[in-house]
Amino acid sequence: MTYHRRETFLPFTRPVIGQAEIDELIDCIHSGWITTGPKSAKFEAELCAYNGVPHCLAMNSATTAQEITMQVLGLQPGDEVITTSLTWVSTLSTVVLQGGVPVLVDIDPKTLNLDPLKLEAAITPRTKGIIPVHLTGLPCPMDAIYAVAAKHGLWVVEDAAQAMGAHYKGKKIGSDPRSVMSVYSFHPNKNMTTGEGGAIAFFDDAHLPRIQRLRFHGIERDAWKRQSKEGSVHIDVAEPARKANFMDLQAAIGLHQIKQLDGFNARRRVLFLRYLELMKDMDEVLLPWEGDLNHGHCFHLFVARIRPEKAGLTRDEFVQALKDENIGTGIHYRPAHVHSYYQDFYTNRHPHAMPKEGLPNSEWSGERLCSLPLWPGLTEEDQDQVVATIKEILVRARTKVVV
Ligand SMILES: Cc1ncc(COP(=O)(O)O)c(C=O)c1O
Repeated sequence: MTYHRRETFLPFTRPVIGQAEIDELIDCIHSGWITTGPKSAKFEAELCAYNGVPHCLAMNSATTAQEITMQVLGLQPGDEVITTSLTWVSTLSTVVLQGGVPVLVDIDPKTLNLDPLKLEAAITPRTKGIIPVHLTGLPCPMDAIYAVAAKHGLWVVEDAAQAMGAHYKGKKIGSDPRSVMSVYSFHPNKNMTTGEGGAIAFFDDAHLPRIQRLRFHGIERDAWKRQSKEGSVHIDVAEPARKANFMDLQAAIGLHQIKQLDGFNARRRVLFLRYLELMKDMDEVLLPWEGDLNHGHCFHLFVARIRPEKAGLTRDEFVQALKDENIGTGIHYRPAHVHSYYQDFYTNRHPHAMPKEGLPNSEWSGERLCSLPLWPGLTEEDQDQVVATIKEILVRARTKVVV
């Protein structure tokens, strides 16, 4: 395709919500029950069946779900949890909110995921667990992570926010009992959505009543059961807790999204491969590692890294140039330790929670990365136009044409 400027803005992602979701939403509204209820219970059963786990409890976001995992595991002030800086900040903040210390290890620059070879050096007597993040939908090397966890008696909680539909060695992410819990997100950017929403997948029946009450005021029984004929009208608060329940309105969307998830992910794969093919000769851009394709990827993001030294423009200039051309991109992510709160946290309060040599790979990638438009509804024509525009921007940068 030859370059021409887009007339309308192309977002880097958008949810694909069809008539089935709309009909179910209308049905939900007409039913007279729009908050947590039968549709939510059905959605949780579908999540269990899809992921191959005995328990999946849905709530208002993956962030709350992560917070609850830390509470259930009894994280105490000063306890340490090893994770990566190249993630959404909730991976860290949910540890910090419990008084814990997220200890950062660097990423493998090939995959953008935490480098398991760096784990052991980060372990101290206060280390309690590891939170691997399956960034971009590419599973982490879990066997290596489990081996370190088992050797040192640590738990593993997977941040699978971006990994619905991804699998590791043939098993869905979240379905390996060597992880005590895994957390999915259904935010509108994710591979399937419920508007907002998240879920915890787990195996141990003992966690069930605790997680149920931690998402709803510390009360064990859900409101809809209390108001049904068979339920008791009395409630009992077993402990103080937040209100983070999942609504039937959200489930109405999710029940139809989950049916389409494999189809959505297959379409994402086609587009991902097309980007790799269309951009293979662009020396100025580092493309996602091709080896990813054999690793159960669910193709959540197509992260390109701009090489300013070759492209003659920085990532921020590249992002702005695309925006000027009506093309949206995302930044996943600015490394967490670069945000002002965490700069202070790691420089002044917990300098030992970061390697002495810093996190050079996370910083190198964090300064260059940029997510190109990718969602199941993106057309080949849109994609051709994105690539033609990138080529045009790179030519302009090379020849310093000012428009
Ligand atoms: C890696 C990662 N973890 C956690 C989250 C938090 O998800 P939510 O927005 O559902 O709270 C996100 C969402 O962007 C994410 O990408």
